Amino acid sequence: MADLKSNVFGIDFPNPVMPAAGPNVKTAALMLKAAETGAGSIVSKTFSILPAVDPRPTMKKTIAGGLLNCETWLEDEYSKFIPELKTVSNSTEIPLIASIGYSAKDVAELGRILEDEVKPAAIEFSTHYTGHDISPLIEVAESLKKSVSIPVLMKISPNFPKLEELVLTAEPIVDGFVAVNSFGPALDFNPSKCSPSLGSSWGQGWMSGPPLQPIALGIVCQLARLVKKPIIGVGGISSGEDAAKFLMAGASLVQVCTAAISGGPETYGRIASELSAWLDSEGYNSVSDIKNKYIDNLENRRN
Ligand SMILES: Cc1cc2nc3c(=O)[nH]c(=O)nc-3n(C[C@H](O)[C@H](O)[C@H](O)COP(=O)(O)O)c2cc1C
Repeated sequence: MADLKSNVFGIDFPNPVMPAAGPNVKTAALMLKAAETGAGSIVSKTFSILPAVDPRPTMKKTIAGGLLNCETWLEDEYSKFIPELKTVSNSTEIPLIASIGYSAKDVAELGRILEDEVKPAAIEFSTHYTGHDISPLIEVAESLKKSVSIPVLMKISPNFPKLEELVLTAEPIVDGFVAVNSFGPALDFNPSKCSPSLGSSWGQGWMSGPPLQPIALGIVCQLARLVKKPIIGVGGISSGEDAAKFLMAGASLVQVCTAAISGGPETYGRIASELSAWLDSEGYNSVSDIKNKYIDNLENRRN
């Protein structure tokens, strides 16, 4: 059996597959079920100081197995979510990564509360809904980094226009990156009804699932060739072979959202088992054997 263990950000992960922030991890019950059924770590739904108010419906299937959503962050008060996270942190051995947003003030306050009360292994912060300027995002990174002693990860949105400049500026501050969030704005609707299928202002949403995979894989590979800090790959992963591609393209770990919305919290453990079987069948002994293999092969071809 191939060895799936790794140490990333100074944290031990029994396997590289974890949830991505979304409705799939919005309660302690969902997070604990993921842990019980073989996820390598847990990521929470993103929360902020103010609860979100999302227009309904928030999700709609689109072509090619994709999903459109207009769900933002947690709709509950964060004071109700902290005890749920404490339960998760106290009940499982695997690492917990808390996801928060959005302003420099929000993340400093939430970072302190998390470190005092929940003690997660790391914190990721979302850069969705925060505009297209680099300096406010760097302020958020600096503010969170100053308020906690645990690793801080910046989650990248694929539609950010100056991605390379953003990660190069953020690299000295953060401990790693999560790439990518869902892509948008995107639109789909039933032409017979010819009206919006999502509750957003003109029916627009963020696209995730299989159609996002080549975009996410491209960004992971682009960033892995640019920065040394570890990257968690996310976007359209639904099988062990998908996870292997992200590790080969430079990711150290992977996250899964859309496949778990339809497949349930057992999805992460299933993907980890499939990854192990795939490594065995291809003659690899461990995840470290395939890490960066695609990038290394590119370099060898050039030499
Ligand atoms: C319904 C829905 C809600 C999401 N909510 C969040 C969120 O709260 N915070 C966040 O950083 N990303 C959020 N995402 C983005 C996912 O974490 C992930 O980055 C993206 O969907 C790509 O992965 P996937 O193709 O496996 O879904 C959400 C995605 C979906 C589909």
